[in-house]
Amino acid sequence: MERVTDLDGLRVDDDRLLDRIDTLAAIGAIEGTNGCSRLALTDGDRHGRDLVVSWMRDLGLNVSIDGLGNVVAVMPHPSGAAPVLTGSHIDTVATGGRYDGNLGVLAGLEVIETVLTAGVELPRPLAVGFFTDEEGSRFAPDMLGSLVYVGGMALEEALDIEGVDGAIVGAELDRIGYRGPAPCPGPVPHAFVELHIEQGPVLEVEGRRLGAVTGVQGISWTEVTITGQSNHAGTTPMAMRRDPAVTAAAIVTFVHDLALELGHPQVGTVGMLDLHPDLVNVVAARATLTVDLRNTDDAILQEAERRLARFLDQLAADGTVEIETRSLARFEPVEFDPTVVDQIAGVADELGHEALRMPSGAGHDAQMFARVCPTAMVFVPSVNGVSHNPAEYTDAADLELGANVLLQTMLRLAAS
Ligand code: GLV
Ligand code: MN
Ligand code: MN
Repeated sequence: MERVTDLDGLRVDDDRLLDRIDTLAAIGAIEGTNGCSRLALTDGDRHGRDLVVSWMRDLGLNVSIDGLGNVVAVMPHPSGAAPVLTGSHIDTVATGGRYDGNLGVLAGLEVIETVLTAGVELPRPLAVGFFTDEEGSRFAPDMLGSLVYVGGMALEEALDIEGVDGAIVGAELDRIGYRGPAPCPGPVPHAFVELHIEQGPVLEVEGRRLGAVTGVQGISWTEVTITGQSNHAGTTPMAMRRDPAVTAAAIVTFVHDLALELGHPQVGTVGMLDLHPDLVNVVAARATLTVDLRNTDDAILQEAERRLARFLDQLAADGTVEIETRSLARFEPVEFDPTVVDQIAGVADELGHEALRMPSGAGHDAQMFARVCPTAMVFVPSVNGVSHNPAEYTDAADLELGANVLLQTMLRLAAS
């Protein structure tokens, strides 16, 4: 095989990347849209996993599957050196797009195929992985697989987590055949770099095609359960009601106003709200909702959490309803390795694009790897800033550009 000597000139095959994105997106495709529904550890996730693993094996990579279903594929290499690892996730939210997570995994595969095809010899191997349940919408917390991979939660604890549908992580892994033999926590990579769509509007608004991601904001997820008294909607006088729906509505408004009052970059979302028994002529017995609070500044995030707790205490004070809370996820803000961020920005410059240095609003597997090795991320724009929505879209030229930045960054990290 002819060896490529001009590593700086090496580029990915964009058609191959786009083909793989399309093929994976056909699994769990949401009819009439470009989007996908492959919640973690469902049959859709299994089929997606099987496809990506078959591509990894076709390339001759050494594929390992660990006890939480994290999959890592390493280039064969004469040294036992730790690899430069890239990757992301292939699970989606129930109403997801085709790029969130999937791009990072398939671009990683494309980078490795490019390097193998060129016959490039590197001082250390490259590797690509996908990590279980990044989304967290079925099993909280989010980034569960990468969290356990880096030793941030015990494997046994993760295997016992119950999902929103009552399913258990360990049982679902067994059911889909992805409880593997590799150890978890897993081997520490030399470095980790992840390509992802921005999922927000900033790059587009700033007119940039690349982000060099400096860190990830802190995330706080709380489940709130409000218990009242179920009763007849026609016969129960308003003054005699114990209606948890009314309390839930107050919390929705409070969270929105709280984020506005604390100001940018604080955000607050009630994304899940469930009334039981959820009937037109019945005062609800119970309301369950989730509060998602995020900020790059942990002190302000803690202030938001304190204010929410105080508000819930006030709501429960007169005994009309009972309120219980449960923490679903709490991750502090993360700063990425400045050297890797600079490397990404440098590669972007060489490819003729000034990257925007920016924090990530979304959670990512890279924020877990930042605990154990030099880590950073590359962002490409999301059209209209839309994500976690089947309408999520990124221009093909930006997907290719992001994959080339990933390629060149990985080559440099492998040489470092
Ligand atoms: C996970 O992707 C999150 O940011 O919610
Ligand atoms: Mn993602
Ligand atoms: Mn996501």
